[in-house]
Amino acid sequence: MNDARPCALCPPFHRNAEQELMCGQVSLEKIAQDYGTPTFVYSAQAIEDAYQAFAAAAGPNVLICYALKANPNIAIVRLLGRLGAGFDIVSEGELRRVLAAGGDPARIVFSGVGKTVEELKTALGLGIKCINVESIAELERISEVASSMGLIAPVSLRVNPDIDAETHPYISTGLKDNKFGIAIEDAPAVYQHAASLPSLNVCGIDCHIGSQITSLGPFTEALDAVLRLADQLREMGLSIKHLDLGGGLGICYQDETPPSPELLLRTLLQRVSAWAKACGQDMPQVLFEFGRALVGNAGLLLSRVEVLKPGEHKNFAVIDAAMNDLMRPALYDAWHDVRTVSPVSSPAQTWDIVGPVCESGDWLAKSRHLSLAPGSLVAILSAGAYGMSMSSNYNSRPRAAELLIDAQHEVHLIRRRERFEDLIAAERIPPFLNP
Ligand code: LLP
Repeated sequence: MNDARPCALCPPFHRNAEQELMCGQVSLEKIAQDYGTPTFVYSAQAIEDAYQAFAAAAGPNVLICYALKANPNIAIVRLLGRLGAGFDIVSEGELRRVLAAGGDPARIVFSGVGKTVEELKTALGLGIKCINVESIAELERISEVASSMGLIAPVSLRVNPDIDAETHPYISTGLKDNKFGIAIEDAPAVYQHAASLPSLNVCGIDCHIGSQITSLGPFTEALDAVLRLADQLREMGLSIKHLDLGGGLGICYQDETPPSPELLLRTLLQRVSAWAKACGQDMPQVLFEFGRALVGNAGLLLSRVEVLKPGEHKNFAVIDAAMNDLMRPALYDAWHDVRTVSPVSSPAQTWDIVGPVCESGDWLAKSRHLSLAPGSLVAILSAGAYGMSMSSNYNSRPRAAELLIDAQHEVHLIRRRERFEDLIAAERIPPFLNP
């Protein structure tokens, strides 16, 4: 890892002449001194580079939406919105985050299998771009809500093409066994039904088959299925204005070699354009919903070694970050690179990096050859996506602080570390338990 980043989606951290790990000109040792640990550190430049890699390949009639679930901090949402991103949301909470970040509701698409009536009302009232519909029941619910509000709801149907995204089963969404979307073979009938319902404007087809996808094949297969459906719809006299091709582009955590944003977009957009030409129609607008690829490698989790527990069978390094801060290893067996922040003189040994939480599943990395000392700092890389957003207060641990480093190397606190008072703020002792 040196100064020059090999790609726009690679981690933006490097070692200086003293072998200290830096983000731009900012020392991670200094950050730990100033803000404590565990702390998430994000690089605004790296997020911008990732976004621009997509934007450069996108062309005029493409909207790159940011899937907020990857990292919903309002500073990150504002940064991506300013760069030109739209937004993919899955809850009213995410909707309100877009608003809090100053984002334009007309650039929001709303995904998710269980949107409530209240959520739909809020979204329709704000005039969002499109609701991605996941079932017939939801379609009917949207029609009713829109009718009751005297509005027309823009909808697209999320289709499930039964394609293997070749990723972890928990983050695969495009298979028949998954709860997501409408089976693609049923889609023509459901589109017909949608066209017959009041207060709907059926404007698109949506398809998202999974996350951390590292080859082109599943993307092109899914697109081909979507285009076959678009042909069927044309034959039925239904015209589609946009295609939402979802997100899911993987990043390199260890040795994965996902396609570049440029290759992915060029490949998919060429296919859409060839299809449009063949059927003599204008190129439809194309939407994407990327999360991980925009922010994943732009962030790390900075943590301090609390105690070392060398043993006969295994060496454990207990750090002050845990599964509640980064649950990907515990949940998906995920691999995150771990780096020492400053050189440590003790000889390197093989360590399991674990947290203080009372679960054997509370590990962050296994069998890593590192020089560690009590009190030394480690950086867990690729923690910008699905780190803080999936964190919890398990074991009554306050959530970590989040920092954003700007292009001028200034450090900004974008979420303060939680305090004990935050943990119990919503709790009440009922009168019958009063002394
Ligand atoms: N659109 C929809 C409808 C989604 O369900 C997702 C992710 C995305 C877009 C964004 O996918 P991305 O571009 O980030 O791959 N917690 C897991 C990932 C769960 C992804 C859920 N849906 C992890 O840590 O790997």
